[in-house]
Amino acid sequence: MPSLFIPPDHFRELRHEEIFADPSRPLEVDLGCGDGTFVAGMAAQFPERDFLGVERMLGRVEKTMRKIERGQLSNARIMRLETAYTVAWLLPRTSVTRLHLLCPDPWPKKKHAARRMVNQDEFLDGLTRILIPGGEFLLKTDDAPYFEDALASFATREHQFTRLEWAEDEFFYPKTDFEKGWLNIGRSINRARWRYDAH
Ligand SMILES: C[S@@+](CC[C@H](N)C(=O)[O-])C[C@H]1O[C@@H](n2cnc3c(N)ncnc32)[C@H](O)[C@@H]1O
Repeated sequence: MPSLFIPPDHFRELRHEEIFADPSRPLEVDLGCGDGTFVAGMAAQFPERDFLGVERMLGRVEKTMRKIERGQLSNARIMRLETAYTVAWLLPRTSVTRLHLLCPDPWPKKKHAARRMVNQDEFLDGLTRILIPGGEFLLKTDDAPYFEDALASFATREHQFTRLEWAEDEFFYPKTDFEKGWLNIGRSINRARWRYDAH
């Protein structure tokens, strides 16, 4: 199975088995996976789960492919595509056990705040489409306004999502390249985790 996943059709919902052969295995998705450190680290640690990275920058897609291939990780793949479209339209419904959004682009200017994924109803509706009941959305960001926006957005959806505790080192969760970079220059990382309750 090639490490690069190219959808057979970009204009219809994918079937789970088109991405990974066995739909009974848990599927985790890393949105904007950068150089693939997280995807490759998780896939090596959890061979019983499948991992799909989504990234638009070609150089980063190629780095992720190299990590997957060097590690001979048959449970990891990378797709070069736009994340919002992927969540809203492409991923199969009720298929994802955990969706990770790690150090997303912060869009710091006020006039660009609407571009933050967590501010978009289409993204939040997409989460409810693709997550399995009990599935989780996990967010890490160094950017305080982004984090506040996420808390505010999910607060309006308490009927669908429950915020869960997430203590540091509660479970295996490798630091991403951007996270390490921010920590090295003394910035702190906010993290939050929500469970989709499917109401
Ligand atoms: C700040 S970096 C974080 C990368 C990685 N998650 C990490 O923490 O090291 C954000 C990543 O998301 C990708 N990205 C941003 N917007 C995207 C979009 N709409 N579709 C796909 N990838 C996107 C960027 O190319 C970049 O690699």
